This record gives sequence, structure tokens and C-alpha cells, in this order.
Amino acid sequence: MSAGGSGERQPRVTRRTALRIGGVGLLAAGAGAAGWWRFGPESVLDARSGAALVEPSVLRSESGVLAVRLEATRGERQVAGRQVTTLGYNGGLPGPTLRVRPGDTLRIELVNGLDEPTNLHVHGLHVSPEGNGDNVFVAVQPGESFDYEHRLPDDHPPGVFWYHPHHHGNVADQVFGGLYGAIVVEDPDDASARATVEVARERVLVVSDISLDESGALKEPSMPDRMMGREGDLVLVNGQATPALEARPGERERWRVVNACASRYLALDLGDQQVDLVARDLGPLEVPAAGDELVLAPGNRADIVLTTVSGTTTVRADPVDRGEADMGGMSGMMGGDAPSSSGAVDLLTLEVAGADAAEGAPLPAPRAVRDLRDRETTRRRELVFQTGMGMGGMSFTFGGLEFDPDRTDQEVEVGSVEDWTIRNDSSMDHPFHLHVWPMQVLDAGKGPVDDPVWRDVVNVPARGTVTVRVAFDRPGRTVYHCHILDHEDDGMMGVVQVA
Ligand code: C2O
Ligand code: CU
Ligand code: CU
Repeated sequence: MSAGGSGERQPRVTRRTALRIGGVGLLAAGAGAAGWWRFGPESVLDARSGAALVEPSVLRSESGVLAVRLEATRGERQVAGRQVTTLGYNGGLPGPTLRVRPGDTLRIELVNGLDEPTNLHVHGLHVSPEGNGDNVFVAVQPGESFDYEHRLPDDHPPGVFWYHPHHHGNVADQVFGGLYGAIVVEDPDDASARATVEVARERVLVVSDISLDESGALKEPSMPDRMMGREGDLVLVNGQATPALEARPGERERWRVVNACASRYLALDLGDQQVDLVARDLGPLEVPAAGDELVLAPGNRADIVLTTVSGTTTVRADPVDRGEADMGGMSGMMGGDAPSSSGAVDLLTLEVAGADAAEGAPLPAPRAVRDLRDRETTRRRELVFQTGMGMGGMSFTFGGLEFDPDRTDQEVEVGSVEDWTIRNDSSMDHPFHLHVWPMQVLDAGKGPVDDPVWRDVVNVPARGTVTVRVAFDRPGRTVYHCHILDHEDDGMMGVVQVA
């Protein structure tokens, strides 16, 4: 995968061993009336998995405006075919998909039906972080509501984005509990010039994970879970365990995949299907990249075009080694070793059968993509991911400083272009996320990147370094942080002020 390969570190992915006993049949057989849960190193599968994929409901802007009401509640809902108690927006998990276009205004009335504070962040959108914009410093108390308004610039990059809570200290619990949904910024070219791909259908696939106890209630994470970043026993696609898709051979599908997991990395493996990566995080790639393996850190998205090949494919996530929590020899006291990798898991099955579909249109011609590499930069900064052992347990910081909403860590002049080097001094990977301003990856740790690679989350490998270039083209005060949400809640977050 050329464009992706140049910007991504090679994932330390091991192929699934044939010994992964399990598969739907075996687990289903063992999970009879006594309960469909199976806890263990592998994901939990619902006995009724294999149900047809359902997509979240879609709310679409009209005449330049989308106004929605999102109510966050805890309640009974269907997850993986069972009645359980989770969080969710508007009673669903995921929440509705919001579809807007560049230039639109997105109004969201957030109603807090939880028993703790929350708020709402629009991850990846290039909008103002001030006032009732994408302001993560807002706290919406239980029973209260807040009216957000986001005005997307006319040249906003198209792509798949997402929304989730961002109230510091509650983020991992609330996202892991079920609060997330997709935002699609449509490409004006898609509808008008048909400049991109003709597809038979488009699917939004929100991948998340969750842990539930035998009674169907959310399970509390252990101390090592919090240190390494919790990974759920159950991996869901649109709230379903291993749903099934059907297509005819030769059909083109566009998949917009969101990694909404709190900490889990997803190394997507689509088997023998023909995959073209058309966008990552923000905006289209210059040239679609062929490839069948693609690592999404927490928060990342992939926009792919699939040309279906006959047969049954299990789309899965391959294992990803994400380092280890250095607990200073205290792992025994903490209740065992922290998990050090995202395990193999089946995501969905794709059944391709029937008469051949007509040939699809050719993949899109190369497009010019924004490139900051010839821009003057005014400043270079270094930010350091650090972990340490202290009196209160393990600490997660940038340069030894825990998040303080009242402290400004980076003061940036509006209109400037800066290079930020993110160094990881710890023995586990941390995905770096900057709000509001997209990052162009200059060096992902293996020398300069060839093509323009844009991200809003970029993984910084254990003991590794990544350099990005950022155009701070609008003012505002917001945050950057590790997108392993337990780390963010623990303080691995800083404040950037652009004025
Ligand atoms: Cu997806 Cu600051 O978050
Ligand atoms: Cu974000
Ligand atoms: Cu982290």
C-alpha cells in the first residue's frame, strides 16, 4: 500500500495462528442457554452472530443545516443480539450517523441523561473550538443540555469523522460504555462531477469494543486495564457481533470504517477481497492505495473501496503489539500483567455470491492534495509522551505534566505553520491526536514521507518519534492528547492556545 505505507509505521502484526480455536460455530455451541458470554483471550461471540448488518440511522443536512438532538442515556438496549445495559445516544449504539457537506452548519442539542457530567466533541472536524463550538472545556451536568453549533468551512475536507464525549476524567468510561457515532462530510465532487468512484453501495462501519458482566451490565476495568488502556471482551460493528454482509461478485462497495474503540488498535484484514484505500482520517489520498492490511489506531478512520471477489470472507482484525506498560515491577501487585497487544478478532463476514455484477467505473484519477512541505515554518516544538511510577500509581503525561485545563502548554500564533515532533519515551505506543487543525505527517519515524499524508491521529510507537506539520489557520483554545482514552483521562493531554 504505497501512500499508506509511506506514512505508517509497519505494524508489528502477526498472522493469526490456525490454532485460534473458536470461530462462531464452536463458541456458539458452548454458549447455550447457560449464557452466551464466553470470557477469555478471544472476543465474546453472541450465539446469534451472523445476523445481517444494520446501519445506524442517518440524519442528513438540508439546505445547508443539520439540527439534531442527541440524548446520552444509560439504559437497556440490544447489543450483539442481547438485552443489556449500556450507554448510548438516542437509545442506540452507535448513535445516528450525521451527514453534512462542506459549508454546512451542524447544530447539536446535547441532552445529558446520565448521572455524571458529559459533553460532545466532533473528532476531526476543522471547526472553531471556542464558545459553543467544539469546546471540550464545556461540562454539561446531569439533567442539563447544551446547544453546540459548528460551521464547517467551504473547503472542509470530506471524509468520515465521529463524535464522542470529551469530559476529562469520564471519557474512557463513556466511550467504552457506548457513546459514539459517525459524521460523514460528503465530497461535493461525489454527487456532482462523479469524480470519484461509482459504488453499488456505501456502508458506515463503526467498530467499538465493550465488556459486559454476566448480568449484562458494563464491567469495571481493572487497574492493568486502565494502565494499558482497556480493551473490551466484545468487539462490535455497528453494535453487532460479527454481522454478515452479502454482495454479488464484482460489485464495488465503499466502506467508511471508524475505530471507536477506547484503546484497541485494529489491523484490518479483508482476506482475498480487493481493497483500495481512498482516504484516511481526512480528505482523499492523492492516489488510491492498494493493500489489504491497514492499521487503525484508536480514533483513526479508513475510507476504502472494495471490489468484491466470490466466496466467504471473514473480515478480521489481526493482532497488534502495542508495547507494554512499564509498571516498575509492580504488575503482580496490580493484579497481573497489563495486556500488551490487541488480539485477533473477527469483525464481520462477507458472503459474495450470485451473478457477476457489471464492471464498475475505474477508480478515481489522482487528485491534487494539500501539501505544506514547501511552506515556511516559524517554529519547531517537541512534545514528549511520558509514563512513570509515582506514589499514586502510574502517571501518564506530556513531559511530566498532567493535564491542567487552566494551564496553556503551547502558545501558537494564528496563521503560523509549525513542525511538532512527538517523542515517545515510554515502552508502549501512544496515538497522538490534535483537535481542530489537521496534521501533515512529515516523518513517521522512518525518514521523510513521500506523499502528502494527513491525519488527526498518528501513532507514535514505543520509544519512537513522529514529526508533523500543522497550519494553525484559525484561532482557539483546545487540546491534544493520547487517544488511548484511559491515558487521556489520567492526564496525558495538553492545552494549545492559538491567537
Ligand atoms: Cu477523539 Cu480529543 O478526541
Ligand atoms: Cu478529537
Ligand atoms: Cu497513551
